[in-house]
Amino acid sequence: MSLFQTVQTPALTYEQPLGLFINNEFVKGVEGKTFETINPHNEKPIVAVHEGAEEDVNIAVKAARSALNGEWKQVTPSERGRLLTRLADFLERDIETLAAIEALDNGKGVTMAKGDVTASAGCLRYYGGWADKIYGQTIDTDTNSLTYTRHEPVGVCGQIIPWNFPLLMFAWKIGPALATGNTIVMKTAEQTPLSGLYVAKLIKEAGFPPGVVNVISGFGRTAGAAIAAHMDIDKVAFTGSTLVGRQIMKSAADSNLKKVTLELGGKSPNIVLPDANLEEAIEWVNLGIFFNHGQCCCAGSRILVHEAVYEKFLELFKKRAEQNKVGDPFNTETFQGPQVSQIQYDRIMSYIKDGKGAGAKVITGGDRHGSEGYYIQPTIFADVTEDMTIVKEEIFGPVCTVQKVRSEEEAIKVANDTNYGLAAAVHTTNINTAIRVSNAIKAGTVWVNNYNTLHYQMPFGGFKESGIGRELGSYALENYTEVKTVRVHLSQS
Ligand code: NAI
Ligand code: MG
Repeated sequence: MSLFQTVQTPALTYEQPLGLFINNEFVKGVEGKTFETINPHNEKPIVAVHEGAEEDVNIAVKAARSALNGEWKQVTPSERGRLLTRLADFLERDIETLAAIEALDNGKGVTMAKGDVTASAGCLRYYGGWADKIYGQTIDTDTNSLTYTRHEPVGVCGQIIPWNFPLLMFAWKIGPALATGNTIVMKTAEQTPLSGLYVAKLIKEAGFPPGVVNVISGFGRTAGAAIAAHMDIDKVAFTGSTLVGRQIMKSAADSNLKKVTLELGGKSPNIVLPDANLEEAIEWVNLGIFFNHGQCCCAGSRILVHEAVYEKFLELFKKRAEQNKVGDPFNTETFQGPQVSQIQYDRIMSYIKDGKGAGAKVITGGDRHGSEGYYIQPTIFADVTEDMTIVKEEIFGPVCTVQKVRSEEEAIKVANDTNYGLAAAVHTTNINTAIRVSNAIKAGTVWVNNYNTLHYQMPFGGFKESGIGRELGSYALENYTEVKTVRVHLSQS
């Protein structure tokens, strides 16, 4: 099978790389296998890409190690920054193509996909700016010493990303790692390998030396597991399910104790208090759960509404949710496309069935949308109780629950009654209430009167079982540097 293929999308035609990207070349996998990626809009295969497994990971790690000790080491910090900003420019140059790839392979609306491209370019440019501003301290212990710290790259980094934001997760991961001088073996998600391979081509075009970024398309249990267990990978960064996060941490512990950062699931509360601007709150609540078809780790899936506005809220929220445009990702008006895969579709539909069976009231939705593709209606459940599975577990689809609370205290208690702690929001016009509630909630991000407004300058990550470490902002740089202390004894003669 060839290494490139012309792909036609409803928007444009482009050249799709299909190989694994190792040492700046597209190559076939050692086992010679390929796998198909599916268009979730029509359930048909788009192309087959080459599949990487353990042996390919080994080859990629060797390439990354030799780049780390060789050419990449000689590249100055400001030149690293220049390469990252150049890559950002190329993403923007190719925004139409990249957005079309995301719409085709992931199913997100092409207008939303353009937002992902812009945010990815912004993230890379932001970390490009950091590259020559990574430094330690000088520490004055006594007159006979000179002590200083160096922030050195951790080394070869394994990065495993999911399918919900294929391009954006790629950018979040490589930005801080490259700014700080590491090299990378990236495994993209098997559902959405196409944008990562396209960016690999841009990485070469931008002028990164061979081996600095290697991209493996492949499956979790083979290529992903090989990264987590590898003896010559110094750090692994993972975004995905809590279940797999635990396995990665175990593999890291059982192998070489590689550093681990995890960005996992959530069941984030979105609190609406009686003094909220209800119209505005509903806009954010709607975006909070239905953006990206509910396939967001920080989705505001548990909506907690004060009893004083509960009935009014349900009436307006139902109306708003029913206005969301569901359909073809290539329609520029589309807000909600199909779920990414049959597996995710089935998983979400089984949660919906479970919710109905448990006696939750369907306010709107609750069924598939249309007859082809993995489309699900925006679904709101109300009159739920805390013990229901749909209230406890991450659904990762366009499905939310609305719960009635009687006070601010109860809202906080219910909000925190979860093993997760990724994000939360509170809607109120009282500044004191806003800050009191934000402080009381155990979550990595709290939005006040907004939702899902992530930004590459702001750290993002989880309390409790939602993860370890922070991505984005200057905080992410810490995951990718080892601090070395050098103490020099000064001779007195
Ligand atoms: P997953 O956690 O299995 O997949 C995420 C990534 O991990 C993919 O690249 C996959 O190939 C890789 N992976 C899978 N098993 C692995 C292993 N044993 N070792 C190393 N890497 C492995 O998630 P999946 O099955 O795609 O989705 C299941 C659920 O996970 C979703 O319904 C959702 O609740 C959650 N999820 C959360 C995401 C987030 O952004 N936090 C993203 C994707 C899924
Ligand atoms: Mg796909």
